Amino acid sequence: MTEIPEHLLKRAAAARAATSGEDPPADTPAGSPVADTPAAAAPAPPSEVPAEAEPEPLAPYIVAHNARRKIPWWAVSALLLLPLWAFTYVGTLERPPQEATGVLAEGDHVYAARCASCHGATGSGGSGYPLADGEVLTTFPSIADHVVWVVQGSDAVGLGNSYGDPARNRTVIGGMPGWGDVLTREELLGVVLHERARLSGSEDDAALAEAIDDAVHGGTLDLGGHFDPVTITTQEVDDLLASASGDGDGH
Ligand code: HEC
Repeated sequence: MTEIPEHLLKRAAAARAATSGEDPPADTPAGSPVADTPAAAAPAPPSEVPAEAEPEPLAPYIVAHNARRKIPWWAVSALLLLPLWAFTYVGTLERPPQEATGVLAEGDHVYAARCASCHGATGSGGSGYPLADGEVLTTFPSIADHVVWVVQGSDAVGLGNSYGDPARNRTVIGGMPGWGDVLTREELLGVVLHERARLSGSEDDAALAEAIDDAVHGGTLDLGGHFDPVTITTQEVDDLLASASGDGDGH
């Protein structure tokens, strides 16, 4: 084992003493480990430890940047696909099939709720006339007359007055409520179309119902609001229906 020069040992001992806060031992015997002395082994109080170089205080925005959770790399692809997902999602919001929301479907519900009790669920009649098997088409060859009748009812037309096709010879005997104030224009057209297309099998009226749906969805026909039982005319109804079928695309 080579001899360590005395001055180096002294320097090492001085350095250890400085670290532990003790006076450097004046003459530590060469070769005796300083760490074995009780003074050097005792842990130094922290306050006397020479301060490590204080880290520069970081600017708040850098601290915030470091603390912020990063977007993981794999999420970036998900973010890129988000607009595509939104696009297809909006696509699913397209109007549902006509059967569910069309004017005829609307009419089915209205008929069951408002009319079936007197005219029968299938239009076979009850306290009100039968409407099925072409019966209602015989009374009202014109849908506009049919609409006006349902809007007004027996009282507004007036007991004893005739209604419908003159060849049918109907006069008002009373008992049919007026529906203009109760049903919206869409519901009222729907229930009339239901009686004609569904109960009496009129294909023209089934086609008209489709044209109405197209016009409503296309924004060229608005069936909100009510028909006014006092002012309604067949002309008004004809004009309304012409605006639906007039610019239809033929299906
Ligand atoms: C309270 C019973 C009752 C209800 C409810 C009722 N009706 Fe009537 N309906 C009648 C009666 C009674 C007549 C005959 C009226 C008269 O002669 O004054 C009639 C006549 C009709 C006629 C003419 C039939 C023909 O050939 O002369 C149509 C169309 C009609 N109703 C449609 C409807 C519709 C649409 C509804 C539902 C929105 C409805 N009715 C609800 C009792 C009713």
